[in-house]
Amino acid sequence: MIKDKVLKALNNQINEELYSAYLYASMRAYFEKLNLKGFANWLRIQVQEELFHVRKFENYIFERGGEVELYEIKKPPKSWKSPLDAFEGVYKHECHITECINKLAEIAEKEGDRSTRMFLDWFINEQMEEEANADGILQKLQMVKDAPGGIYWIDKELEQRTINPMIIADITGTATGQ
Ligand code: FEO
Repeated sequence: MIKDKVLKALNNQINEELYSAYLYASMRAYFEKLNLKGFANWLRIQVQEELFHVRKFENYIFERGGEVELYEIKKPPKSWKSPLDAFEGVYKHECHITECINKLAEIAEKEGDRSTRMFLDWFINEQMEEEANADGILQKLQMVKDAPGGIYWIDKELEQRTINPMIIADITGTATGQ
């Protein structure tokens, strides 16, 4: 049986992941309003990534016989000063999520919960990728600042992002082992 302290920390992380989805949904709306469809596409897919993270935590709690508890999700900001400002926000948020995952791993370790600690390895790797992806876009935006030509070029590039097939399989229930 999963210990209360670990369960509470996992449920808190579900709330963090749901807020991530909420934040990126709000950013997507901001970019749709600016008619920057590539940025909006990247964020639309990022919302799905975050919801995938939510389901991963939920499934793990179910497997351990724990109870999923959903908490209130705080309201995200609704506008940003510029694409650069928004992506500074994405990068900062992903660094915050990395810290949350690290703290969660510390709790699991302290509580002697090896299964949870092992489960979190996936998220530790995922966060390296999440930070690197956000940082890659942020660096390009820092390079072009507010130059419309540069923003247009980045927007075209972000239009290419496609959803990870693993997430489609998870949504449709066609993932191996389901
Ligand atoms: Fe679920 Fe973007 O971290």
